[in-house]
Amino acid sequence: MKCIDAVILEQKMLVPEIYQMTLQTEAPFSAMPGQFVQVQVPGYYLRRPISICEIDERQIVLIYKTVGQGTAAMAQMKKGDKLDLFGPLGTGFPIENRDAVLIGGGVGIPPLLETAKQYRRLGHKVTVIMGFNAKEQIFLSARFEKLGCSVSIATMDGSYGISGTVMDAMHAENISNEFVLACGPLPMLKAVNAECHGYISLESRMACGIGACMGCVVKDSDGGSLRVCKDGPVFAIGKAVL
Ligand SMILES: Cc1cc2nc3c(=O)[nH]c(=O)nc-3n(C[C@H](O)[C@H](O)[C@H](O)COP(=O)(O)OP(=O)(O)OC[C@H]3O[C@@H](n4cnc5c(N)ncnc54)[C@H](O)[C@@H]3O)c2cc1C
Ligand code: FES
Repeated sequence: MKCIDAVILEQKMLVPEIYQMTLQTEAPFSAMPGQFVQVQVPGYYLRRPISICEIDERQIVLIYKTVGQGTAAMAQMKKGDKLDLFGPLGTGFPIENRDAVLIGGGVGIPPLLETAKQYRRLGHKVTVIMGFNAKEQIFLSARFEKLGCSVSIATMDGSYGISGTVMDAMHAENISNEFVLACGPLPMLKAVNAECHGYISLESRMACGIGACMGCVVKDSDGGSLRVCKDGPVFAIGKAVL
């Protein structure tokens, strides 16, 4: 992990409140899908953790939702602006020699794009289940389809695809729960945790991002504690107490 100077190549809104920022890094950069960077938003002391959505040598794509002041300031940044990233941090999703089912909800979906790319590159079948509140919030589905993934979409209000949760989509379409990689809101992860085998990526409020401050701790099922930033964010299902 290191500080990386990057320049914004493109910034665009995908759907309301969701932005895609493409950056060029000063030096080649590599990371596992599921790892994240800590973004130093100009004017803010604490860095903001954002998952790596796509990575290609000197190009990195972040997709983020504007939820507070830091992400709102990121959304104001323009092509050519400089940004300091720190990373890659944490554990990534394992790339195994098998087909994979990827389950994502909202802004938990971006790290699954690089994961899907790597599984498809190895020739594996990739099934993606994406969950949103409503049709207007759907993003990235065409990118997964272009990679040759089989894509199912669930919307909570029933305005597109299967009405209900990602688990409703999994049941309705008889999708296997044998090897699942998931990222999304906690209620979704709890449901995945209860029914599936594989790995989940957790979120927690972070400060240092490198395992030093214990600000992001969750309980280990063995009774100890786990730092989401360093022991995770990707954990084997059952490892962390949700
Ligand atoms: C490992 C990891 C990966 C993430 N990947 C993404 C992603 O790819 N796309 C995306 O949109 N969001 C992602 N998040 C959530 C993102 O970090 C927060 O939405 C963001 O930090 C909010 O910052 P803010 O200044 O806009 O909000 P504010 O609420 O103003 O933030 C105040 C402080 O709380 C922290 N904070 C607030 N919400 C969160 C949160 N959910 N997780 C961690 N820290 C938080 C901020 O970093 C900041 O220090 C990720 C979080 C983690 C832990
Ligand atoms: S954020 Fe400091 S230990 Fe995880």
